[in-house]
Amino acid sequence: MSKLLYIEVSPRKDRSASIEVAQFFLEAYQDGSTDNQVEVLDLWDLNLPEFNGDTINAKYRVMHGEVPNPEEIAAWKTITKFAEQFKTADHYLISTPMWNFSIPYKLKHYIDIISQPGLTWSFTPEEGYQGLVTGKSATLILARGGEYTSSAEVGAMDFQRPYLEMILGFIGIKDIKTILIEPTLIDVETKEKSIAAGKKQAISYAKK
Ligand SMILES: Cc1cc2nc3c(=O)[nH]c(=O)nc-3n(C[C@H](O)[C@H](O)[C@H](O)COP(=O)(O)O)c2cc1C
Repeated sequence: MSKLLYIEVSPRKDRSASIEVAQFFLEAYQDGSTDNQVEVLDLWDLNLPEFNGDTINAKYRVMHGEVPNPEEIAAWKTITKFAEQFKTADHYLISTPMWNFSIPYKLKHYIDIISQPGLTWSFTPEEGYQGLVTGKSATLILARGGEYTSSAEVGAMDFQRPYLEMILGFIGIKDIKTILIEPTLIDVETKEKSIAAGKKQAISYAKK
């Protein structure tokens, strides 16, 4: 039994390029195998908790080995639930648009919730930072209106791919495959070509 957690970020649903490619990945992943289980997290349908003062105090108490107060314990429990759910997966699929050269705030909110000391990473002066989500793999499907692979100058404006690959690596996920769907906003033909190429890549990664 193998579990894939699919994190869906675009609110555009049946008009979304990233979701269209992700659907091909999911079909190929589940094709002919009842062992492959999929859990879907639609970030627009998820009531993510605020990352407020009590939560931050709890985070620092955990980091410093101190005892949290009852409000902090309650806040930390809410956070723990999301991080524990995240860790139950063997594989991750994240499909997301680029927004303002980075990721949509819903995905950043989710990352701020699950990226926690003692849950998805640890720190000791001897060993430094260690990712705790190890032995897993991730596929990223990244849709963007522009074309960020066209030159180094434009590539330097891409904070979507480097950030996501870095933060997943930071929490321990080193086996990452990235599918770029770009450019989606130049003209329909170019967009369709990019989606078709992305679907081929998605099927090949899913089957692995
Ligand atoms: C709020 C918002 C911000 C965006 N910012 C950028 C951007 O900085 N760079 C870019 O290339 N495209 C940008 N886009 C375009 C999307 O990345 C593009 O339409 C992509 O295909 C959306 O993915 P989706 O079709 O899966 O929703 C933006 C779109 C929206 C709605």
